[in-house]
Amino acid sequence: MSMQGVQNEEKIHLNKEEQKRIRQRSLKLLGEIVKPVRARLFVSLALVITSQALRVAGPWIIALILDQALPDAMSGNFNTLYMLVGVYFGASILSGITIAFFLRFAAKVSQDVMFGLRKRLFRHTQKLSVEFHETYTSGRVIARQTSDLDSIKELLDSGGNEMVSGILYMLFTAIALVTLDPSSFMIMLVSFIPLFFLTRWFQRNTRINYRKTRVASAKLIVHFVETMTGIRAVKAFRKEKRNQDTYGELVEDYRSVNAKVIQLFGIYDPGLIMIGNITVAFVLLWGGFRVLEGDLGIGVLISCILYARSFYDPMENLAMFYNAYQSANSALEKISGVLEEEPSVPEPQKPVSLAHRRGKINFQNVQFAYSNGKVVLPNFDLEIKAGQTVALVGTTGAGKSTLAKLISRFYDPSQGRVELDGVNLREISDDELRETVVMVTQEAYLFSGTVGENIALGKPTASQEEIESAAKAVGAHEFILSLPDGYATDVNKRGGRVSAGQRQLISFARAFIADPTVLILDEATSSLDIPSERMVQKGLQTLLAGRTAIIIAHRLSTVSIADRVIVMEHGKIIEDDTPAKLIAGTGKFAKMHKAWRDSLV
Ligand SMILES: Nc1ncnc2c1ncn2[C@@H]1O[C@H](COP(=O)(O)OP(=O)(O)OP(=O)(O)O)[C@@H](O)[C@H]1O
Ligand SMILES: [Mg+2]
Repeated sequence: MSMQGVQNEEKIHLNKEEQKRIRQRSLKLLGEIVKPVRARLFVSLALVITSQALRVAGPWIIALILDQALPDAMSGNFNTLYMLVGVYFGASILSGITIAFFLRFAAKVSQDVMFGLRKRLFRHTQKLSVEFHETYTSGRVIARQTSDLDSIKELLDSGGNEMVSGILYMLFTAIALVTLDPSSFMIMLVSFIPLFFLTRWFQRNTRINYRKTRVASAKLIVHFVETMTGIRAVKAFRKEKRNQDTYGELVEDYRSVNAKVIQLFGIYDPGLIMIGNITVAFVLLWGGFRVLEGDLGIGVLISCILYARSFYDPMENLAMFYNAYQSANSALEKISGVLEEEPSVPEPQKPVSLAHRRGKINFQNVQFAYSNGKVVLPNFDLEIKAGQTVALVGTTGAGKSTLAKLISRFYDPSQGRVELDGVNLREISDDELRETVVMVTQEAYLFSGTVGENIALGKPTASQEEIESAAKAVGAHEFILSLPDGYATDVNKRGGRVSAGQRQLISFARAFIADPTVLILDEATSSLDIPSERMVQKGLQTLLAGRTAIIIAHRLSTVSIADRVIVMEHGKIIEDDTPAKLIAGTGKFAKMHKAWRDSLV
């Protein structure tokens, strides 16, 4: 169904059904992340209620002091004065303490929620299959993990606190006003009318502009990431000027929407202050008359003024909360979408263990298409005997790498099955499959760390001797010793930078140390010079004994060590025999081999 997972992420207009589903999905996620901290949320709520009630109690006590304690004191009785001042003092201190506790407590809760969500998102994104990562670009993965998590964090950290305290503060103030002096409260109510319109105007405009800032900053990040990750191509094709101009325009957009937001504040804040001051003036005027008439105590009037003056203080935060809420909500929608994605290559529920790992591979009626729908392998049958060394050759785009990726189970076939020692790959646990089948590709990715650590990835328990003998076997030992710190050289530091061919040698050593039952080499020696490749192949011959090997190479020198050559074209096998027979024949391989031989002399 198209409503699943990340599919709707880019869609602007969703129908009711889709909206409902996405809302439910984010609510569900929200429930899940809040569940472990539920009890602590109640404690924070209790703390914030207490702190705001104490804060609002202050002016009330002042009214009591002015209207009751002072007259008493003038007639010589200081008891009430001392008591009320003591209460005022106590309330202020307690209010400060509860606020401090609340802030600390709430921050801890929000950090814990974020910690859980961050880990869960990472784990899940990493678990998703290659297919997901091919379509969902790394830029989007980064955005989920950074800016989206940040907007949720912002809401939890400040937005939520401020909203809850702000609403409670206004509510308690209103209650205090109603009880102390209902007519001042009525004046407050009237001031709500201009406040309402001003706030609505502000909110609408900030919402639009905040959305624009988010879009603008996302574009900025994507452009930046693209330029910097492709910096070599940028330089090689002299794209600097063009990229700079584009970046300049994006920055300008970003700047102007930000300026717009600041202008909005420039109107809203003074507006709030003005409404507040006018309200205070009316409270003062109306209250003053009544004090003169003797209907109202001066203390009550002063506390009403204090209430009216600070009543609107939380308004700005409340208006902003809506924006924070909106962006956190859209972040939650996107993150819940990613979390809803299932690996397209799922781990089996009940894995079947390979009794004897021998390395027999079997393709039965396999049909395979990538997610774009183009069929790469129409109907594929192949059996590779345990221990066989197979050279897989064929034109570019024939489907050789696809075949290799199916054996490594990066993908599952659309139809038919791939078997290892008679067990469907779908039924083998990931761990066992990774131990049994190792693929070395052209990319030869090195992780940050030392050369030795990179080799030991193939076998985390490997000793230094094992690492070195693996390196010796593939002819990498010599060049590694010539690095500044030998095996301890950091591959990302200056001096540790290795060439493409050296990288391949390291990843070769990594594969050998893993000692897999099935080894797949996909153009794994393409960057090596001829002598180094020979060297690797000499090593291969001994190391491949008792192992199934599939070697994909355009340089046909591989063929000399193969028991069997398979020639592929358009996803089909067109020739399949021993190298000697194929070379002696008149088929495609004989021609390829002749052309290759001729090119060598
Ligand atoms: N990730 C992918 N998504 C969609 N199509 C793909 C993907 N990878 C490969 N293809 C397509 O599948 C076909 C076979 O590709 P494959 O990589 O298996 O070829 P190959 O035989 O390894 O070629 P080469 O010798 O150039 O490495 C090609 O037509 C290619 O366009
Ligand atoms: Mg390939």
